[in-house]
Amino acid sequence: MTYEEASRRQAEALRDKKGVRILALETSCDETAAAVIEDGRKILSNIVFSQIDLHELYGGVVPEIASRAHMEACDRVVDEALRAAGMELADVDALAVTKGPGLVGALLTGVNCMKGLAFAAGKPLIGVNHIEGHVSANYLTNPDLEPPFLCLVVSGGHSHLVEVRDYGVYRLLGQTADDAAGEAFDKAARALGLPYPGGPRIDALAEEGDPEAFRLPEPKTAGRYDYSFSGLKTAFINTVHGIEQRGEPLPRADLAASFRRAVCRELTDKARILIRERPETAAGGMALAGGVSANRELRRMAQSMCDELGVRLYMPEIKLCTDNGAMIGSAAYYQLRRGETAGLNMNAEPALRLVMSEQ
Ligand code: KG4
Ligand code: ZN
Repeated sequence: MTYEEASRRQAEALRDKKGVRILALETSCDETAAAVIEDGRKILSNIVFSQIDLHELYGGVVPEIASRAHMEACDRVVDEALRAAGMELADVDALAVTKGPGLVGALLTGVNCMKGLAFAAGKPLIGVNHIEGHVSANYLTNPDLEPPFLCLVVSGGHSHLVEVRDYGVYRLLGQTADDAAGEAFDKAARALGLPYPGGPRIDALAEEGDPEAFRLPEPKTAGRYDYSFSGLKTAFINTVHGIEQRGEPLPRADLAASFRRAVCRELTDKARILIRERPETAAGGMALAGGVSANRELRRMAQSMCDELGVRLYMPEIKLCTDNGAMIGSAAYYQLRRGETAGLNMNAEPALRLVMSEQ
């Protein structure tokens, strides 16, 4: 029997099993992260090794450095995740890995690592979409959350408003016309001289500032539920340069707070329009997902918007907002239930998108 046949049979047998344990690895960008997850909802271990120190010097992620660092770290991080869960490889039911989107070299290190382990252990392997992983972080923090619900996915590379119709079934309702929200935060942070990654740093600095100190232009988009951040970013950078050229000291906290407010207003305003016009999309609640969902202002503004509209808000706990292996293990569980196992020919897919349903 080939590995693929054996894996399909095992996946079949696991469909009705209680206590399915998945060992998951995430290496799509600058975090080498592994976790063991039970039944898609319970975290048995969650180890995140961040490479931020390695990239900080360059002001962003250097792909080749990231790949090499994943190569060095992934065996150790996987071992640590198993040890922290009190398990050995033989005790897990299946393995999972992020297959995309992300940096191709970084993805390949993880995909190859897990292919080798899955083959050696004779266990099924699941290739996971990183964005679906971010959405699934909500299942770990909110055990009663089930689709359908509305989800605002805001990360370094994506800003999507999607309806999660079922596990693995999405409908795109809005998206960014230009930059992703996280990217806009990172660029604005750079203009203020803050190191990479700028999002969390702007967020911390903004807590001390006045969000109404600077007025930034309201973004214009063609689609009613779409986002735009590049105009905000340019206006912000011009404001900073203007102050610098006049030789005045930068009111950094006020600038950070004003920018953060403008980005979060854009995100929540578009979600508000959508929920008002099509309340059925949020009847099951609204969730936040992705690195930017760690943003304190976004969490507060989304909460008050949802309170105002009578919609229940779900958010991943802060440490599950940014990249981690636990969210990959959660998404993988529902794929395994659908029999979606990968063969040994699985490849990295750097431009992978969420599969959207027709209507
Ligand atoms: O989801 P993520 O960890 O990686 C991607 O899949 O892209 O998101 C990383 C992004 C970065 O742009 C980072 O600056 C931003 O999320 N981010 C934040 C915060 N924490 C992370 N942006 C604003 N406020 C935060 N607290
Ligand atoms: Zn991510």
